[in-house]
Amino acid sequence: MTTPESRRMVEVYRKRAKRYDLTSNRLYLIGQRTMAYKHLALGQLALRPGDTVVDAGCGTGHNLPLLAEAVGPAGRVIGVDLTDSMLERAEERVGRAGLRQVSLVQADLTSYEYPAEVNGIIACFSLTLISDYARIIERGYRALGPKGRWVVLDYRLPGWWPERLIPALAPVIAPFGGDLSMVHRRPWEAVERGAARHRVLTRYGGWVYVSTGEAAGDRP
Ligand SMILES: C[S@@+](CC[C@H](N)C(=O)[O-])C[C@H]1O[C@@H](n2cnc3c(N)ncnc32)[C@H](O)[C@@H]1O
Repeated sequence: MTTPESRRMVEVYRKRAKRYDLTSNRLYLIGQRTMAYKHLALGQLALRPGDTVVDAGCGTGHNLPLLAEAVGPAGRVIGVDLTDSMLERAEERVGRAGLRQVSLVQADLTSYEYPAEVNGIIACFSLTLISDYARIIERGYRALGPKGRWVVLDYRLPGWWPERLIPALAPVIAPFGGDLSMVHRRPWEAVERGAARHRVLTRYGGWVYVSTGEAAGDRP
């Protein structure tokens, strides 16, 4: 099913795909340490060799080599994204690195059918862009096996940011396909709602968070 929101996303990320990795690196100029945040988030997945992990909104596939290393050759990494051009970049990356345990799926996360008994799901800078993020998180929990983990790395408005300055964020959000309604989205709470155990770590003065929810049960 395509919605105006998903059509807008595809339009934005088709334009950005070719230079996405390059333009993302500009965030380092304002002190963001994106790769360090990703390493932190990936560590929260606590993956083991042989595990199955889904990268939800994988984009150009930055995380895929790291996830492939964590699950090893016997594991399985599935990168899911809505935008064909972003997946093409991811495919190139996976091909260059010869990662046979990685597969890519073009799908909308609101209706993506997860494989059974997934050990981890990670979403980096993707869920806040999607108005139906709570449904995505709920559906992900249904696919997680015992002690499986949902990890969301994303931006949020820190508590100290004055309400009257929220409109000033519009030009920062727009290039990512978002608008000011994103400021009121709270994926970390949806991760907490579905979890038996939950923790939130913050970085970059509270603008960046990693929310980790662990499913109930015992892992053999
Ligand atoms: C800001 S990029 C993040 C990409 C990658 N996770 C990273 O950290 O570099 C957001 C990605 O979310 C994808 N996306 C947006 N809405 C989506 C949806 N409903 N289903 C699947 N992917 C979606 C976009 O196509 C884009 O590749």
